[in-house]
Amino acid sequence: MSESDREFDVVVFGATGFTGQLVAEYMGEQYGPPSDLRWAIAGRSQAKLDAVASGLPGEIECLVADSANAEDMRTLAARTRVVCTTVGPYAKYGSELVAACVEQGTHYCDLAGEIHWMRRMIDAHQSAAERSGARIVHTCGFDCIPSDLGTLFVQNAMRERAGEPANHVKFRVVASKGGASGGTIDSGVNMMEEARDDPQILELNADPYALNPLNMPRGLDGLDQTSAEQDPDFRQWTAPFVMASINTRVVRRSNALMNYAYGHDFRYDEAVLTGTGAAGFAKAAALAAGTAMMMGAMAIGPIRNLVLPLLPKPGEGPSKETRENGYFEIALLGLNPNDPEGNVRATIKGDRDPGYGSTAKMLAESAVCLARDALEVAGGFWTPASAMGTQLIERLDSNAGVTFTLDTVN
Ligand SMILES: NC(=O)c1ccc[n+]([C@@H]2O[C@H](COP(=O)([O-])OP(=O)(O)OC[C@H]3O[C@@H](n4cnc5c(N)ncnc54)[C@H](OP(=O)(O)O)[C@@H]3O)[C@@H](O)[C@H]2O)c1
Repeated sequence: MSESDREFDVVVFGATGFTGQLVAEYMGEQYGPPSDLRWAIAGRSQAKLDAVASGLPGEIECLVADSANAEDMRTLAARTRVVCTTVGPYAKYGSELVAACVEQGTHYCDLAGEIHWMRRMIDAHQSAAERSGARIVHTCGFDCIPSDLGTLFVQNAMRERAGEPANHVKFRVVASKGGASGGTIDSGVNMMEEARDDPQILELNADPYALNPLNMPRGLDGLDQTSAEQDPDFRQWTAPFVMASINTRVVRRSNALMNYAYGHDFRYDEAVLTGTGAAGFAKAAALAAGTAMMMGAMAIGPIRNLVLPLLPKPGEGPSKETRENGYFEIALLGLNPNDPEGNVRATIKGDRDPGYGSTAKMLAESAVCLARDALEVAGGFWTPASAMGTQLIERLDSNAGVTFTLDTVN
């Protein structure tokens, strides 16, 4: 079946879960029906899907499919131009769907943050995706859209102003407010459990170029920040950012996939701004210690078993009030390779909590972008910036309350 004969443009798989339901609600608000976008929801339980559909406008079709069943995944992928999935942990539930989309030439986007699983999917299916024409794009939520599209945004501005890209882009979290869902916690726990049986996973996660195409040049970046550090460009103390170990890998992969459009000596890092003076240092040191202690404690089975019952379970997440009062603000700085007066600064803001309210809108717009926009890339495993680039920035800016603004030069 050719792509244009498909019954649907977009299927939201996992629409009964915490994030999937938010994606479905956003699709309903933004794309109807009525609208000329043909979309449906999918999940493993007809009754749960019916309940979600009853809260959506018009008649939304519900498709029942189990992620563990390869035939179900093949049938699902064959019916639509794009599958957008929130069925996670992806390392546990996602592999059959990726294989089916690759086989059927169906475009795909998700919210995966599991580096080892994405590496596995790329290595297993890249050649087949090139042949079938399926564009597969992981990490279309808070990780890693602000990082990946923000860097592209800064680099486009720098190229326009200076005729060449910034040799170093810094991503700094200025502010954010939100919470975590059971599905996200489950994904982190699943990764730790897999790493216990396979130490190579930890080794891969520590590799700053873990997602780069194999046999292509890497770059100059080293390990992620682990302690309080002073940032002379922002004139503030900084702490490690918990998502940096995913986001930085995706931005570096984008550079390689875009034929090193940011340069072979491009550097990229992420951190949280904590302020100036002794108070800024104390906050940075406390955040660094807190993050290290939390990760360390959660890696120990018996401690994890004690803590997990106190955290949200799969299907649960931050309340509507938390999501609607949530927000994020990111500052990006591109360093001009030749002229310290010619740096580029940009701000990205989100009008909902980063992990769910804004993430749901980013994933939905990524799916519509894959279905609708004239994208230049062929089949393969791409990143948000390399596949959808400025088209997705425009969609997020106009529709999704995620704004990209250039600040003053330097
Ligand atoms: N990158 C980001 O910024 C970001 C942000 C948010 C979430 N995430 C990721 O998104 C994923 C989902 O998170 P969440 O909080 O929404 O999780 P959740 O509420 O637990 O939802 C998981 C969904 O998967 C479905 N599912 C589980 N097993 C299935 C199977 N065998 N067949 C079909 N469907 C199945 C569940 O169906 P039932 O309803 O029937 O149980 C549910 O719809 C996680 O991996 C999380 O890490 C990432």
